[in-house]
Amino acid sequence: MIPNDVWDIAYENSMSKTRVNYPTQKPEQLLERIIKSSSKNGDIVFDCFMGSGTTQAVAMKLGRKFIGADINLGAIQTTTKRLLNVSKELENADDKYIGFEVYNVNNYDFFRNPVEAKDLLIDALEIQKFDGSNVYDGELDGRMVKIMPVNRLATKSDLEELKSNLPYQKFEKRKSENPLEPVERLTIICMGHEPDLKPSLEKDLINYNIDIEIIDILKDKANLQFKRDSEAVIEIEDNKLNIKEFYPMNLLQKLSMQKEYVEDWKQMVESVMIDWNYDGAVMEPKLVDIAEKNDLVKGVYEIPSDVSNIKIKITDLLSETYEKEIKINE
Ligand SMILES: C[S@@+](CC[C@H](N)C(=O)[O-])C[C@H]1O[C@@H](n2cnc3c(N)ncnc32)[C@H](O)[C@@H]1O
Repeated sequence: MIPNDVWDIAYENSMSKTRVNYPTQKPEQLLERIIKSSSKNGDIVFDCFMGSGTTQAVAMKLGRKFIGADINLGAIQTTTKRLLNVSKELENADDKYIGFEVYNVNNYDFFRNPVEAKDLLIDALEIQKFDGSNVYDGELDGRMVKIMPVNRLATKSDLEELKSNLPYQKFEKRKSENPLEPVERLTIICMGHEPDLKPSLEKDLINYNIDIEIIDILKDKANLQFKRDSEAVIEIEDNKLNIKEFYPMNLLQKLSMQKEYVEDWKQMVESVMIDWNYDGAVMEPKLVDIAEKNDLVKGVYEIPSDVSNIKIKITDLLSETYEKEIKINE
């Protein structure tokens, strides 16, 4: 029968088993129809506005590989949790892609708080900070530094505030004293920028010789390390794998907590996944331990008999992961 152009699919009602309470959640049936009609087993499905992850959940159930993205951290957390549950349901299915990774692009989440972001950059780039200045944020190698909002790319309109605050009287004085020298050496720090940012600023300040440099941390400082890696103590005892300690450093930092004050690491963990025979490339978890409403993850796991190379992945409440490989027989 030729399908009708009206698809009669019920929305996610409050009793639905697959409901995860994301405000714009779509019914799985809808995505099932779209995915089945437009892809084959093993194809890659991409939804760059994934919300609660309906596309990814259905793709996983249908044996498709998948990629998702969302600007909202809540969507990442909801989807991570949802996919962990689906991967648990499909634990023993051989033809499904149940492993997945969560990536954080451009330290986006880390730069969520603009005040904190500025301080992190000042530390990382070793800028001498100016307190209380409404023009510049600090000085670096004899240059005045202005840090743009770093949770998005810098646009020409972001420069308006800087332009209106520049010390033009000083510039005039320097210009008359030293006409051949730049009146200012200015470094603008940003996280991605419009390609004509510098020429447009030069044009607007055409009356002054200003030496402008743009440092784009996405390109020029791609190796800057902002994140502190998580740490864990994992031991094998009496044929059991025992996670003794776990310190999700970014989460601890967000909670303003010191390592020493972590009483029970399990309270900060969403899931533990273990692949007992990791092939060094693709993690295929055979054990999926998810924290439920009233239950924390177990933390101690019986090791099966035929293990070779163990890979453990601990996902914390920020959906950030810690990974460790333990080779048996070494
Ligand atoms: C209508 S919802 C998607 C719902 C999803 N299909 C489901 O079943 O749950 C749209 C999503 O796009 C996300 N979004 C909006 N702008 C975005 C952007 N620029 N980049 C990535 N995600 C974005 C929103 O956070 C929201 O979660």
